[in-house]
Amino acid sequence: MALEKKIRELKEKREKMLLGGGEEAIEKQKAMGKNTARERIMSILDQGSFSEYDMFVEHDARDFGMDKKHLPSDGVVIGTGTVQGLPVAIFAQDFTVAGGSLGLMHSRKITKIMDHALKMRIPLIGINDSGGARIQEGVNSLAGYGEIFFRNTISSGVIPQISVILGPCAGGAVYSPALTDFVFVVENISKMFITGPEVIKTVLGEEISMEALGGARVHCEVSGNAHFFAMSEEECFSQIKKLVSFIPRNNDVKARVHDPVPPDKKYDIEKIVPGDPTLPYDVKDVIRAVADNSDFFEIQEMYARNIVIGFGRLGGKTVGFVANQPMEMAGVLDVDSSDKAARFIRYCDAFSIPLVTLVDLPGYLPGVDQEHAGVIRHGAKVLYAYSEATVPKLTVILRKAYGGGYIAMSSRHLRADFVFAWPTAEIAVMGPEGAANIIFRKEITTAANPDEVRRQKVEEYKEKFANPYVAASRGYVDSVIEPSETRKLLLHALEVSEDKVVQMPRKKHGIPPF
Ligand code: HXC
Repeated sequence: MALEKKIRELKEKREKMLLGGGEEAIEKQKAMGKNTARERIMSILDQGSFSEYDMFVEHDARDFGMDKKHLPSDGVVIGTGTVQGLPVAIFAQDFTVAGGSLGLMHSRKITKIMDHALKMRIPLIGINDSGGARIQEGVNSLAGYGEIFFRNTISSGVIPQISVILGPCAGGAVYSPALTDFVFVVENISKMFITGPEVIKTVLGEEISMEALGGARVHCEVSGNAHFFAMSEEECFSQIKKLVSFIPRNNDVKARVHDPVPPDKKYDIEKIVPGDPTLPYDVKDVIRAVADNSDFFEIQEMYARNIVIGFGRLGGKTVGFVANQPMEMAGVLDVDSSDKAARFIRYCDAFSIPLVTLVDLPGYLPGVDQEHAGVIRHGAKVLYAYSEATVPKLTVILRKAYGGGYIAMSSRHLRADFVFAWPTAEIAVMGPEGAANIIFRKEITTAANPDEVRRQKVEEYKEKFANPYVAASRGYVDSVIEPSETRKLLLHALEVSEDKVVQMPRKKHGIPPF
């Protein structure tokens, strides 16, 4: 009887906590197309797998009326569960409780689950929906953020860290997502910025809406801070589940192997790349023509579209695809595409995911804007990331591989393990037109018919260099292959490199061109 009473008491206490900030606040949340913190967690985790910790944690702040404020679970829900059977740690800020603001105990709950995730070597999923530092708690709130940022950094490359922005994420609070691996945003719901519209108006006199300043689209298309865009929370949750299916739970194990399914026959690899090197095509079709089940899970789809990155599988094993996109600025490397590719390469390397690079680019983007924006420093990130990566590196040169672009895109010289080239590959210092104009300038300008001589010289150069055989004769390319052989050879290369070992010189860490 006594036990029954105690259990009833526990249930009542739980019920109160589960109501968060109360029905009115929940209604307000729903009216914005938002789910509650616990609903979000339940939607991401496998049914019935959530185990909540610290439900009864309370703040002990006293100033500014806080002594009279009861904040259920202190505005954040934490715990563990599984996503498609994979254990994960998760937290979700509860906007219905003091706007999900972060006070000392709120931050301690988050750092507790972060420590747990790191100790157990399981992925961490953080759902952000908060007005930022709890103003009444002063420096304790700032200390809380600092503790979170520190843990994000220490966990980086050890466990996957996923941030989901489902409401405001303002001020310094944005730096936790920025330190994590992947950021998910939802149209009309996610807002991320360092200084809000009001501050901007006061300081700079400029009027801007919250959406235009730091809405979901802005961070996917312009700033590149977010990696996945969804139209609703539900779509976002299924994207998270899909991502988790591709990645390993920590840096000591490999991603789970799935049943291999051949690509869809509708992607005819012989017909995708046009013979004329000036014509564009969608490199994602090449990826779909080689990947298992033609399934390609693209990352940062809306940002720096001249490079394509994302996960797929080959023979059931996760690989990271990096591919120049000839449909967008001819697939050049520039400041943004270099940043995008380099970070992804480092992610794959940290988590033992082999890299498959598809090359077709005229080089780095020339121009004053790019030079002044630091294309030297940003472009160097690609060289650094590929050189440093010790996971299996498989390269296929589809068409153009000119100049620095050739070297940067996982060339033999940066220690690619397998370099294949299609017969359409053109591996040279630069394109035939540019090259002929420079090295035959005298002949061309002094000729009676310069156009005819230029045409001849361009042809001569093409004949000699715009092919894969010069590189193949030096062993820079291992094999010139038919496009239809690509998948078979990539599968073979992956199998051969399953237990690849590379010894790097001992160092504390390198100094990448951040
Ligand atoms: C305490 C907060 C809060 C905060 C919101 N609330 N933000 N309480 N500290 N930072 C409370 C509100 O008082 C309100 O409480 C409830 O949450 C809901 O907020 P509303 O304003 O009614 O909601 P909404 O209209 O949707 O506006 C959301 C908002 C706005 C845009 C986020 O609340 C806002 O501008 N908040 C302040 C944002 C901010 O400046 N934060 C500090 C940033 S500096 P009641 O009791 O009325 O329901 C920072 C530094 C971190 O974060 C540095 C780390 C390095």
